[in-house]
Amino acid sequence: MFDLIVLGGGPAGYLAGERAGEAGLKTCVIEKMFIGGVCLNEGCIPSKALLYSAKIFDNAAHGEKYGVHVKEISLDHAFVVARKQKVIDTLVGGIRAKLKKLGVTVVEGDGVIQHRTPQGFAVKVGEELYEGRQLLIATGSDPVMPPIEGLREGFDAGFVLTNREVLKLEQVPAEFVVIGGGVIGLEMASYFNSAGAHVTVIEMLDHIAGNTDAEIGKLLQKNYAAKGITFELSAKVVKVGRDCVEFERDGKRISVKADKVLCSIGRRAHTAGIGLENLGVYTERGAVKTDEQMRTNVAGVYAAGDVNGVSMLAHTAYREAEVAVNNILGKKDRMSYEAVPAVIYTNPEVASVGRTEEQLKKDGVNFKAVKLTMKFSGRYVAENEGGDGIMKLLVDADKETVLGVHMIGNYSSEIIISAVIMIEKKMRLSEIKKVIFPHPTVSEIIREAVFAVE
Ligand code: NAI
Repeated sequence: MFDLIVLGGGPAGYLAGERAGEAGLKTCVIEKMFIGGVCLNEGCIPSKALLYSAKIFDNAAHGEKYGVHVKEISLDHAFVVARKQKVIDTLVGGIRAKLKKLGVTVVEGDGVIQHRTPQGFAVKVGEELYEGRQLLIATGSDPVMPPIEGLREGFDAGFVLTNREVLKLEQVPAEFVVIGGGVIGLEMASYFNSAGAHVTVIEMLDHIAGNTDAEIGKLLQKNYAAKGITFELSAKVVKVGRDCVEFERDGKRISVKADKVLCSIGRRAHTAGIGLENLGVYTERGAVKTDEQMRTNVAGVYAAGDVNGVSMLAHTAYREAEVAVNNILGKKDRMSYEAVPAVIYTNPEVASVGRTEEQLKKDGVNFKAVKLTMKFSGRYVAENEGGDGIMKLLVDADKETVLGVHMIGNYSSEIIISAVIMIEKKMRLSEIKKVIFPHPTVSEIIREAVFAVE
């Protein structure tokens, strides 16, 4: 009998395992594929390994701007893919070792929730039955595959890829077509553009990068259009052929040639086949419904990570897992989604936290906005010849607190955390002004903007 059974070993699941193990709970993590989940094995981490190689390559290719002349450069895609596996193995090994050290049992197999027991719940893996007093569902999400003509056949034939297959591609396709200009689509478009493919991004909306600040999304598109990516916006994909993708715009049908197609049009909570119905766990639009303590409708059953469909990001999953474990331990803890940062690891990077101008206007909030070119940062100017990055700071006009920060420019991914803390802790501008930022760093752009608020 375990104190806690965690179903799923991704960011929510393995972190819950660690936190529960640290707190002395007898814990079992059940994982059907790989510990580390999509994030470590088929998502966040491997894509960052690929994108870092692309960044080095791009820097070398434009070295002359900085007085560095490189005669012959090439990007060895096979090497990049192999190195990515080394990165994964190191990190997955680390998680395994930590869970072991904490005495957490890891069960490899497909877990299905069975029934209540006098003291809790039973989960079956193969022929084995595991019993736990409490249960945490952390089964993640799967890529959406819409019913577009030829898409499923293309996937079965290896012509259409998801985030899983694209990271294993052995060769760089000459024509790479991306369906969906969201986070996965843009990051992979970025890598394959650097790796030498001609990339076409087909997006249904009239803009890329989803809910990103509209001006920043446009700037990102402009940067990538200059690097040779073709964007087809307001384009509805209607058919995937053997060597092409067809879309409709303004009543016209247009065909784009493709050697490989990435389908990245969103993800859906993984709730099918895990036995939720055996306990009567309530789902809403296919995701497990949770409250701010990460509880489901069934007492003793919690859910964290993509499976609750709230914010499909690994860092949200981490915090949700901690909230769940704290509540299991009887420590009151609540999840807040007010300051969840979002990053797109393109080159330049995009990072944001809080609400956008568009959202604040819609919500009728009285706010002040400061927009600065990244050139206000000395380090940015030193390291970004010709860079056109910007940052926006949005402030509550009455309370003088930060409502949103949106940036495009490298290091954004690393410096956004300062803005996250400002929003989470509801810091007033007068307090932020007394904080010392390291100089010279790109982070100083936030300090500049704070002082620029009228
Ligand atoms: P997404 O939701 O970010 O973007 C999907 C895009 O596809 C949207 O712009 C949507 O308008 C478009 N779309 C939908 N149906 C379409 C159609 N039929 N034809 C053309 N376009 C269509 O989803 P994505 O990129 O698949 O990522 C999935 C999840 O993974 C997201 O929730 C994201 O947060 C997470 N993720 C996060 C990363 C990060 O934080 N850096 C990196 C990669 C993924």
